[in-house]
Formats: sequence, structure tokens, C-alpha cells
Amino acid sequence: MELPFAESWKIKMIEPIRKNTRKEREQWLKEAGYNMFQLKAEHVYIDLLTDSGTGAMSDRQWASMMLGDESYAGATSYYNMKDMVTRITGFEYALPTHQGRAAENVLFSCLVKEGDVCPGNSHFDTTKGHIESRKALALDCTIDEAKDTQLEIPFKGNVDIKKLEAALARYGERIPFIIVTITNNTAGGQPVSMQNLRNVKILADKYDKKVLFDSARFAENAYFIKTREEGYRDKSIKEICMEMFTHADGMTMSAKKDAIVNMGGFFATRLKEWYDAAKVKGIVYEGFITYGGMNGRDMNALATGLDENTEFDNLESRIKQVEYLGKKLDEYGIPYQRPAGGHAIFVDAAKVLIHVPKEQFPAQTLAIELYLEAGIRGCEIGYILADRDPVTRQNRFDGLDLLRLAIPRRVYTDNHMNVTAAALKNIYDRREDITKGVKIIREAELLRHFTVELKRIE
Ligand code: F0G
Repeated sequence: MELPFAESWKIKMIEPIRKNTRKEREQWLKEAGYNMFQLKAEHVYIDLLTDSGTGAMSDRQWASMMLGDESYAGATSYYNMKDMVTRITGFEYALPTHQGRAAENVLFSCLVKEGDVCPGNSHFDTTKGHIESRKALALDCTIDEAKDTQLEIPFKGNVDIKKLEAALARYGERIPFIIVTITNNTAGGQPVSMQNLRNVKILADKYDKKVLFDSARFAENAYFIKTREEGYRDKSIKEICMEMFTHADGMTMSAKKDAIVNMGGFFATRLKEWYDAAKVKGIVYEGFITYGGMNGRDMNALATGLDENTEFDNLESRIKQVEYLGKKLDEYGIPYQRPAGGHAIFVDAAKVLIHVPKEQFPAQTLAIELYLEAGIRGCEIGYILADRDPVTRQNRFDGLDLLRLAIPRRVYTDNHMNVTAAALKNIYDRREDITKGVKIIREAELLRHFTVELKRIE
């Protein structure tokens, strides 16, 4: 008999989690204004809000923390981190920042100005925020196939090369760089192929433009290239990473994802002029260039995390768990963005809660139902997150309305996935009876999903 798959690690330390009752959850969620971000974490049983900063560090990472060098300038921890970044990406320059959006802030402060256009594949909300707040345009050039959740293709995060070329031809001088997000979080944790990265680079060279990777989940992207793209099966993850980054001039990194640390990030590049410019902003916003908002111990843990998580076994353990949850949902017929993503399953709420009108936010309603059902916290990636159109102030209903179940790295077991799938099945079984959603009571102008106050429609 062929042996089944099992994780490439065992558990040395645990953290208790507590179940609660439906009555308690009803009270807590009401107090939280039906907003998952306003819940106390201790009131959550299984927390799938995000995979960012929520991973479990390894014994080697904890050990490297003890060796952290807390010198203000020139700490060995900084060089450990920088050398690891160079080993994996080939980029010579690395500037630490306290997290991913800080790297965006530092770099975009130098590169993005009013009237600019930054084409890319489904910019993450902070990336978009840092572009739009500088009165520039984040132009989405993702392939159209990404919008069809039931279509199964291997690289659904790809950039549409035709759309990109049209943008380059049209906006020319107004484009400071092309940004490619690997994996594509907003489209469902979907990967970008090496061929696509290569084609983007060829176009960029043709138009004399620079390419930036938003690399939060670059190692997961490399795993998909190895397992799905022809010619990469026999290459190591580190070799694939090195090749991916030959198609970029620089990267912003949220180390809270694929470096498996609880806090941290960096900007890295091969361009001295980008580094020299960013370094000045880094000192103003983040701290001196050899710590930039991080401790020595955190930079050590980051270096070790990067090393470990660019190994196949670790990535396989992680991504197979996401796939496992996807397969459970398949058993129950619950629709989600196919195929399963690298870090999360994105349930297609509009296809589940068919009687909840879009004006009543089906994905948020599904998030509420899931919490009430079993104390599981997911995150709406849908109409609330999309914010209002800056000009018309109308809700934007043109995208997808998804419930993201993001799986922290090395934290939960497949049993937790079983509970999650069963809870969703219970909701799916009574979907015909769910006819009412929520309405907004109070909302912020930008990034409203973090603080929005909602009311259930009776
Ligand atoms: N880029 C991508 C693709 C991301 O997913 C995130 C964060 C960032 C940049 C910003 O990094 O949080 O360290 O400042 N994503 C988290 C999530 C918050 O839940 O998907 P950060």
C-alpha cells in the first residue's frame, strides 16, 4: 500500500484554544458590529482571518532569536538576513522594514508621484493604498480567467500580457514600474508562471521599464512552478526562486507570510539607485538601514525562516493542507475559487448564498454564519473590502464576493480543517433559508472593512 502524505515536522509546543457556545458567539459578534476584525481573538475557536504573522516558528528560528545582535548599527543579524536574501533572490541590496506595507511606503515614496500609473496583477489593498494615496493609478492587468471561480487553470494569477502592453503603450512615461504579486493574493492565492514572469520582463525591457515583485508569498509561487510548470520538476525551490527573481529589479516583502515570522519585512533590489533612494526614506520612516523597524532577534528568525521555507518539504506540508480543505469542500459541493490557492481557500459566497442580494453583502453574511455556526473566523474579500468608487461613492459590485479562509503556516491540523469544512457544509445545507444579509451602519472612507459597523437585516 502506498503510504499517505504527512507533514515534514512534528509539534514541540502547543497553545490551547477554547470552544464556545452559539449563545456566547451571538453576543460577542453583535458587540463587534458583525465585523470579524473587531472580535477578541480569545472568542475565536479556529482563526482563519489571515496567514500573515500567524505562523508557528520552528525550533531553529527560536534558537536563532537567542543569537540576535541588538547593535544599533551593523548588527550581525542584519547581515544574516541580507546574506540570506541575496542567496535566495540574487539581490545585492536589502533594507529591513517593520512589515510589507512599510517596504511599499519607503519605496513608493521615492518612485510614485501624482498622475503615475502602476500596472500589475490584482494589487493587494495596502499596495493599492500606497499608490492611490499618492494620487497615482493602480491598474489591474490580471487575466480575465481569474474572475471565473469554477475555471481550473494552473496559473490563474498571471498578468495579461496584452493588457500590460496596451498600458505600457498608452501611459509610457507615467509608468514608474510594473508590479507583479507572487502569488496573487486577491485573485485567490493563485500563482504566476515562470513563462509569464519572463514575458512581463521582455515587455518591460522593450518599453525600458523596471519590474517590482510583491513577494509576500514568493516561495509558495515557486512551489506551484515546480509542481505545475513544464521543465521545473527537477529543480529545487531555491533554484526556481533565483530564476524568478532574475525577471525583477526589486522586491517588497512581507516576511509575515513566506518567511514565517510574526513581524517583519524588507525591500531588496539589484539597483543601487533604488537602494540609495529608499535608504533615505527608510531612515525617516523605519529606522537605521541595518534594522529598519526590526529587532536583531527578529532579523535572525527571518533569515532562518526564509531558508526553511524555500525547501520543498516545508512548502508541500503547507500547501497540501490548503488543498486538503479544498478537497473536503469538493466532497460537499461547496464552490470556491479553483484550484485551491497557496495560502487560502476562497469560498464563492455569491454562489452559496444565492438569495442574499449583493447590496446585503453575501460574503460578509457567510463569514457571520460561519462564526456563529462554529466559532471559525474567516475574512471577507468582497464588496465591503472593495470600498466605494472614489468618484461616484457607489459600492463597487463588479468584482468577486469571496469568503477567504486563510490558513496559518504550521498551526492547525487537518482535524481543524475537517471542523471548518463540516461547519461550512451545515451552512450550505440550509442555504435556501438564508435570505437576508447585513447593512452598513458606519464606515470609513478608505479600507473600510477593518472598522465597518454592520447590522443584520431582520
Ligand atoms: N502584499 C501582499 C500580497 C499581501 O498579502 C500583504 C498582506 C501585503 C503586501 C502587506 O504586508 O501586512 O506585512 O504590511 N496581506 C495580509 C493578508 C494582511 O491578510 O493577506 P504587511
